[in-house]
Amino acid sequence: MIIAANLKTNLTRKETNKYLAEVESFVSSKNITQEVLVFPAMSSLDTHDTSIIVGAQNAYATKDGAFTGEIGSVHLEEFAIKTILIGHSERRHILGETQEELAIKFNYYKDLGFKIVYCVGEPLEKRKAGKSEMMEYISSQYKGIDTKYKNLIIAYEPVWAIGTGLTPTLEDIQEIHTDLKEKSTAPILYGGSVKVTNAKDVLALKNIDGILVGSAALYGEHFCSMIEYAQELEGK
Ligand code: PGA
Repeated sequence: MIIAANLKTNLTRKETNKYLAEVESFVSSKNITQEVLVFPAMSSLDTHDTSIIVGAQNAYATKDGAFTGEIGSVHLEEFAIKTILIGHSERRHILGETQEELAIKFNYYKDLGFKIVYCVGEPLEKRKAGKSEMMEYISSQYKGIDTKYKNLIIAYEPVWAIGTGLTPTLEDIQEIHTDLKEKSTAPILYGGSVKVTNAKDVLALKNIDGILVGSAALYGEHFCSMIEYAQELEGK
């Protein structure tokens, strides 16, 4: 399974190094065979000496150039980073990235062969509007995205569940993942208020290939417990 930590705008470079060392030591001492991904803040990117896959939370669809405040692929290549998170709800809804811009970014990093964790998920009003409107909304987030791309990982993250402590029921998660599997055979992660207390139940569901964890992953110990659950459920 794939266990991913999105550290968002948290942990300094020093703290990230400590965090990665803690997770790395856990992964090697427990002989973890799961795929572990960590997306640190931009200023913590480096050539980390670790078996953990370190990815970028964002980058612009450019090699370099005049895009103040952004980084391009040349900055990721400097650290041999080949994994990127695209379409996270905070980028869509707080930073205002449109589907068109996300598709351009997706295609740019796809052409470079990046592993792409592409996030989709509905806001509360779409969930309340009923299943068909909700699925239509989620489908619109696949526009311009190559769902057959071999290095694609989908993350289903309902916007209303991110950082709120709320989650869909296990049945709902299972049902939506099953529907999304029809759109793409790529692995699908669930994200949105995953914690040590619910991670095992979520990971045990059918059609779930892993989790993308925000707040709860900030504690290295908690993130390691979730990695261990995935290892225990291997071959579920
Ligand atoms: P959360 O965030 O675990 O804090 O809800 C998940 C995410 O944004 O990827």
